[in-house]
Formats: sequence, C-alpha cells, structure tokens
Amino acid sequence: MSATTSTPRRFQQGLNSLLQSRVAEVLGYPHGVDRYLEVFNPLWSVKEVRAKVENVQHLTADSVTLTLKPNSNWQGFVPGQFVQLTVSINGKLHTRCYSPANSLHREDGTIELTAKAHADGFVSRYLRDCVRVGDVVTLSQAGGEFALPEQRPERVLLISGGSGITPVMSMLRTLCDEGFKGEITFLHYANRAQDMIYAEEVADIAARFGNVTLLRAFADEQEGGELSGLFSSEHLFNSVPDFAQATTFLCGPPPMMAAVEKVWEEQGITDQLHKEQFTLATAAVDDGESAEGEVRFVRSEAQVTNDGKTLLEQAEAAGLNPQSGCRMGICYSCTCKKTAGKVRDLRTGVISSGDEEDIQLCVSVPVGTVALDI
Ligand code: FES
Repeated sequence: MSATTSTPRRFQQGLNSLLQSRVAEVLGYPHGVDRYLEVFNPLWSVKEVRAKVENVQHLTADSVTLTLKPNSNWQGFVPGQFVQLTVSINGKLHTRCYSPANSLHREDGTIELTAKAHADGFVSRYLRDCVRVGDVVTLSQAGGEFALPEQRPERVLLISGGSGITPVMSMLRTLCDEGFKGEITFLHYANRAQDMIYAEEVADIAARFGNVTLLRAFADEQEGGELSGLFSSEHLFNSVPDFAQATTFLCGPPPMMAAVEKVWEEQGITDQLHKEQFTLATAAVDDGESAEGEVRFVRSEAQVTNDGKTLLEQAEAAGLNPQSGCRMGICYSCTCKKTAGKVRDLRTGVISSGDEEDIQLCVSVPVGTVALDI
C-alpha cells in the first residue's frame, strides 16, 4: 500500500483544509495547488476525486472490470448511480459515465467499474486495452436519480441488458449483503451466454439465496438460458407473474428498454419502473429537415457549416474542446448557453423555442443557424 492510501483520514482532511485556503490558492497561482501536489503523488488533490487502479479483470472477452481505490475526496454512492471517469488519452482528457457495480457494503473502500468495449467505444477500448494496475484516473462524485431507495422496496425486479447489468448488479450485491428478505427477480438479456458479464457470480448468488430468482434470456436460441430471445411481455406474464407488485429497476439498450416501458405503460404502473439508459436513444423525426445554416461559436469566434451532427461533435470538429462526459444527455457536463437559433433534442425530437437558453450539446442538433456561447 502506498504512503498516500495509508495517510490517516483526519490528517488528510486537515491537509485539505489547509490546501483549500486562500494562502494556498495565492501560492499555487497560476496553475492551482493540484498541479504542484500531483508532482509528489498523482492521487493528491485538494478537491478532485482521483483513484488508483488496484485490479484489472476481464470477465468477458469484450469487457474490463476495474477495481479503483479513490482518495479521501470521494463521498460514496448509492447503488444505481453513475460516476464520470476521466482518462488522458494521447494528452487529451476523455470522460465517460459508468455505474459502480460493487455492493455499498464493500469494506475495503474500493469501487468497481465495468466497461463493455464496443467497436466504436474509444474510451472503453482504451480502458480494456491500456489501463494497468497502478494507473490513476479521475472520477466525479456519484450522481443520478437511478438509485436504490433508502427504504428498501418489499419486492424487487431487476431487468438488465448487456452492460446495463452494472447498476443493477450493485443493487443485487447490496441487498444480499444486507440480508434483504423480500423476493428479488433478476432478469438479464444478452446475445449469448458467454457475453453475460458477472454470469458466474449472479448464478452463485441465486444458488445461495433462496429469495433470488435468476432468469437469463439469450437472443441466440441455441444458448441455454431460462428464457430465450429478446424481451417480450410473455417473459413477464409467464415467468414473473407478480411483476406489477414489484419495484422494478431497468437498465439496458434502448430497444429493450422501450419494449419494457411499453408493458409498464399498458399496465398503468410506470411509477413502479425506475430506469437508466447508457446509450443515446434518438427519437424518430420525419419532418423532412435537412442540415442547413451555420453553427457559430461566439466566444471562440469560430464557425462551421451545420452538418446535421450533434453540437458537441460539430464543436469538436471546429477544433474546440467543450466539456463533456456521458455524451448521451445524462451528466449535464456539456450544458452551455445557446444565444440564438433553434435546436432539436435528439432524444425527444422536440425543437427548442429559439430564445436564449441552456442546452446540452451532446443531445442537440441545430435547426438552421445557431449561436453558442462557447
Ligand atoms: S456529455 Fe453528458 S449530458 Fe452531454
């Protein structure tokens, strides 16, 4: 264990107060105190959560599971929430959202993030291929509304697809650690058995805990899950007949989530469905819009011809580097002021009023010419 991680918490908090003082700020000008601290130890920071990679595992061929030990600035999380993880790749900072998958009651102070490396997942592929034990990454504090309520529900249904398993895995592990007595059904969708992250552990939990029922559904009919194919209402009616009585937590790819939401809507029980999406779901638009006009970045005095992509992509194509994180509308780190023009929200298809307003660059496309305060 390094000297930093063994520093007593009280000493580190005292050190933080000292370093956050006005005197330290003046002495650290113009680079900030953190720039000097990290020369001594990359984990030292006045306010930032920095975390050391303590373990790297590959539970499936296309995923990576990182065990991270955050510094004392970390304030903890609620199962289901996400954090923004920032890494430097070729000298440029990249941020993405991941949900801690570990139990709230893990005692060693580490958190576990699992990323599925998609073919076009620039950051997730970097995490899988390049991150090593001992590396240091930056985290945000945890956030998000998708969270296990403090008052645990009596009946829990967890539905996940693909890497959407991570936040519900945290819920499952937490409830089991707490000796939760209610019924838990864990319904998971994957293409093939070998693609299911945490497969062994979930099966082991279901074998050890009589109140946990595991239902695995594989899209490939050849694979041997308890169910087969994509999500269908029959899965619920036949295999989870009391689903309407359950508090349900759902996380997975957009088509699966839409199919699940439809059933809850038809049953009039959407207030019992809690959901988190880690892929951008776009609304169908059929208004014959074509990309036209310009995108003007007022502060930078840059301008590009609108190519129909998101404002975040167009800003980056213009050589700008606006703050961003999840790139799917959940973390709000890309929020900026639009000073003129209209934009369409990719998730809802709704076109903004055209007045001055805050917009999220990653989920907005310009409708005609727009001006942004970047
Ligand atoms: S980058 Fe997260 S909301 Fe836009």
